[in-house]
Amino acid sequence: MANGRLDLRARVRHAVVTRAADALTLGVLSRRHRAQRIEVRELELRIPRWPAAHDGLRVAHVSDFHLGHLMPVERAADAVRRVGALGVDLLACTGDVVDLHADGAEPLFAEMAAVRAPLGHYLVLGNHDHLHDAKLIASMARRNGVRLLDGDVVEAGTGASRLLVGGVDWGRSIRVLDRAVVRLPEVPDLLLAHNPKAFHAAAARGVPLTLSGHTHGGQVAWKGRPRTNLSFAHRLSAGAYARDGCGLFVNVGAGAWFPLRLHCAPEVVLLTVRRG
Ligand SMILES: [Fe+2]
Repeated sequence: MANGRLDLRARVRHAVVTRAADALTLGVLSRRHRAQRIEVRELELRIPRWPAAHDGLRVAHVSDFHLGHLMPVERAADAVRRVGALGVDLLACTGDVVDLHADGAEPLFAEMAAVRAPLGHYLVLGNHDHLHDAKLIASMARRNGVRLLDGDVVEAGTGASRLLVGGVDWGRSIRVLDRAVVRLPEVPDLLLAHNPKAFHAAAARGVPLTLSGHTHGGQVAWKGRPRTNLSFAHRLSAGAYARDGCGLFVNVGAGAWFPLRLHCAPEVVLLTVRRG
């Protein structure tokens, strides 16, 4: 259901910041932004608590497409196709699929589901997914076979290859996310949470790996120092973090709500997760 207050704030921000930047630069900023190639990054994570049975699991992690004015669905689908072609076991999308409007997102879910991933395709919603019509996004995901996780833990695979995948919905604060993680029916091996602030509770509960997005890596970072960036509200803003034998990966996202990224390239990521 639409959230009127947030929706209005987002629309005002879009009109004042995004569209104004477009107008002031005669559209150059957004044209350049849309022309920027989304990088496919391949990374290996070593996590002491990662289950030995899943040593070497290949996860396609995509996040923050912000479909809309700055992200045509074809551009997003192309990035999903490229990371999916690398050979993956599981696809995880950590939210903000859309920027303002939910309409038109269906082809992206079809593209996610088309990625051959024997352990499945999973989604959690981000703050932007709640602005217009979260139920519509949920139904599009479901129709295409992408599993929406909202306080659930599900089994991917069977027997010795069983992997527990959990997800929590968007939460703004550490306190809200703590509650959501504590309420999970069991401790997952892999947790999806749009906001990386969920990692505090996830590490305390012994969740081996948490995947997040939301920060966009600040969109503007110091050259060669991705964590020195404009995401001032987040200490966990980009890349891999470790605590108590558990890991967090913060994807800087494929899209944006403002048409500028500097030393913070848009990304989709193939993670190879190793125990160790
Ligand atoms: Fe986002």
